[in-house]
Amino acid sequence: MRSIAVLTSGGDAPGMNAAIRAVVRIGLEKGLKMMGVNRGYSGLINGEIFEMNRGAVAEIIQKGGTILKTARCEEFRTQEGRLKAARVLKVFGIDGLVVIGGDGSFTGAALLSELGIATVGIPGTIDNDLCYTDYTIGFDTALNTVLDAVNKLRDTANSHERVSIVEVMGRGCGDIALYGGLAGGAESILIPEKDFDKNEIYKKIFEGKFKGKIHHLVLVAEGVGGTNELAKEIEEVTGVETRATILGHIQRGGNPTAFDRILASRMGERAVDVLLEGKSSRVVGIKHGEIIDVDIKEALNMPRIFNEKIYNMMRTLSS
Ligand code: F6P
Repeated sequence: MRSIAVLTSGGDAPGMNAAIRAVVRIGLEKGLKMMGVNRGYSGLINGEIFEMNRGAVAEIIQKGGTILKTARCEEFRTQEGRLKAARVLKVFGIDGLVVIGGDGSFTGAALLSELGIATVGIPGTIDNDLCYTDYTIGFDTALNTVLDAVNKLRDTANSHERVSIVEVMGRGCGDIALYGGLAGGAESILIPEKDFDKNEIYKKIFEGKFKGKIHHLVLVAEGVGGTNELAKEIEEVTGVETRATILGHIQRGGNPTAFDRILASRMGERAVDVLLEGKSSRVVGIKHGEIIDVDIKEALNMPRIFNEKIYNMMRTLSS
């Protein structure tokens, strides 16, 4: 292993820059030539590759987004596209590739490794939807962004004695809504992992009024959807004024939290070590506080275990 490249792929996540910084600086420390690829797999196919020194990653640990830009690349989903990418990597003399992204990006890395390029993935996505790891880079920052918004929405919902519904990101994974709901003290959360009965929400709102609660907070995961319609229905059924807020891409930006910066630095270091140990088609993660590495296909096939305990506790605390 003489030269390693790093790219970011899929949706960006706060902390990706901290991971790039760690990969580049650890690689340089170990005597490797370090390269950056702009615009994910799309830039890889187009040869958008450049050498990175220590200075190239200065002043980025605190920044959201990704200095390498990111993209979702259709061409790379084809064998022809991947063959082109492998060829480009060989042209640049690159032996190993670090891919920072989510499940789609990891699938690409596994397939690329079959073409003779050693690959390793670092989980960078706000969704926290990769079950082989307890946390993905960006989740903690997104959660704090959600909390900040929830705190502000509470102020206005309190003043007007309204119901506030907040839709958060996470695609098919309800973790942002679940943990955001727990930390934000939401009365109800709607997540794709759990069936729900709207009557239960209405009942809680009626009971809350009776108990003297002045507002009611509902967190809805993006994968459930129907947020604006739900707001109308709540108002019709309960008679309580209701406002919906869809937080959207604001959750993907901002300075990464200390947790995400440290996680990204630790994972970046391990990713370089994994390649130096001669392994390929691996992903790094964190389990019970320890940094681990796992085979990509194995990691992607692991069944998702929903945290019932947290869900039930959240419901108990908010009733
Ligand atoms: O995977 C991260 C994520 O932010 C999801 O939560 C969301 O569904 C999706 O990306 C949005 O993607 P885009 O930025 O392409 O609209």
